[in-house]
Amino acid sequence: MGIPHFLVIPYPVQGHVNPLMQFSEALTKHGCKVTFVNTEFNHKRANSSVGGLDNLKEEGMRFVTLPDGLDPEDDRSDHHKLFVSIKTNMPAFLPKLVQDINALDVHNNITCIVATMHMGWALQAAHKLGIKAAFLWTASAASLAAFYFIPRLIEDGIIDSQGEQTKQQEIQLSPNMPVMDAEDLPWGGFAKKFFPHIVKEMKNLEFGEWWLCNSTSDLEPGAVSVSPKFLPIGPLMESDSNKSSFWEEDTTCLTWLDQQPPESVVYVSFGSIAILEPNQFKEVALGLDLLKRPFLWVVRPSSDNDKVNNAYPDEFHGSKGKIVNWAPQKKILNHPAIACFISHCGWNSTLEGVCSGTPFLCLPFFSDQFVNRLYICDVWKVGLKLDKDENGLILKEEIRKKVEQVLENGDIKARSLKLQELLVDNSVVDGESSKNLEKFINWAK
Ligand code: UDX
Repeated sequence: MGIPHFLVIPYPVQGHVNPLMQFSEALTKHGCKVTFVNTEFNHKRANSSVGGLDNLKEEGMRFVTLPDGLDPEDDRSDHHKLFVSIKTNMPAFLPKLVQDINALDVHNNITCIVATMHMGWALQAAHKLGIKAAFLWTASAASLAAFYFIPRLIEDGIIDSQGEQTKQQEIQLSPNMPVMDAEDLPWGGFAKKFFPHIVKEMKNLEFGEWWLCNSTSDLEPGAVSVSPKFLPIGPLMESDSNKSSFWEEDTTCLTWLDQQPPESVVYVSFGSIAILEPNQFKEVALGLDLLKRPFLWVVRPSSDNDKVNNAYPDEFHGSKGKIVNWAPQKKILNHPAIACFISHCGWNSTLEGVCSGTPFLCLPFFSDQFVNRLYICDVWKVGLKLDKDENGLILKEEIRKKVEQVLENGDIKARSLKLQELLVDNSVVDGESSKNLEKFINWAK
């Protein structure tokens, strides 16, 4: 029996590329071969940022590219456009790519395709090619459970066929999962327009024998057991994410952190997609100025849109803080100077924060981020909500108040450290996630 050869293909956003890269590294550490499919655009981008994909060639991982169908100058932060283009253009190229790779590597043909959300067509293609297929879910198991239960939610009249909640109510997806507001179901915000696609996508995902979850039973005991397909293999924390970073990391913030007192700095980052409305941006800036402590804020200037939104108010001093375009987030969260994390609650950031034992302040924007906030604040109790005012804004005073509250609360810090410990145990040799990873690799052989 040869060694398994995986062809892995992420939807080309940072929150999918990073965990799939980490998963690939875990596979190569177990002696597997991985061919990582990037879009041409992202391959160029990652190669020009720190780390560079080409450094990884010798580690059992090879990189290939497929076109995303857009022109070089098209705006890839328009996710609807990107997503439609990929779905329309990429599937035609995949069988030929597999054929070419197999022709070059006759003794080690591709045995399994692993894809992330929105790339379910690749799992269907695997089925047609007679190759095994698995789905890697990059968000929480709870949000996957919500997608999995869509037919039942419609049948029970909790949502309509467009994903809209029929009335305000609390629901429980499965008996061992927390009670949640129906409005926090993970197709909220701009994700709403993807709802019809998600319904179709769930059918494609059926072609995946396993739904690998970047999570653990400790974090989400009820959610990981809603279907026997769910296989928790998280937290994926293999290496620094900078190997697959789309933007150049500003490492000067690490030297700056070295000069700050222990547990003093408030780290602020809203991931790779979310864009703050101008008024909210202003409140965050002024809120940070109100703090009696240093802050490190990631302000990502990626498109013309952002530049308009990211207008610092005239009253903003920022004298106690450092602002960077893109940071080495995992290193930052593990730095002794960090006190707490103001986060959009993207799942990767959630895991990275939890794995570093850092308390959270939650400012979710869309999709799964509301469910993640529920787990952070109400289930694990390792953070606090930032509440909106009657106009839907989180005001500077709220930010100041909650930062103080979260840092004064010794119980929150104690629970954060306890949870961190539990997660580390999962990834060690006999931990649940390591065992599941081995089970998966054996299945692929
Ligand atoms: C997206 C969705 O928004 C999120 O809801 C979903 O759970 C995953 O996909 P994103 O918004 O980018 O992801 O957030 P997140 O999942 O937190 O991923 C961001 C990644 O970028 C993290 O791994 C984080 O470490 C990294 N990052 C972020 C940096 O390396 N540097 C930064 O300055 C900011």
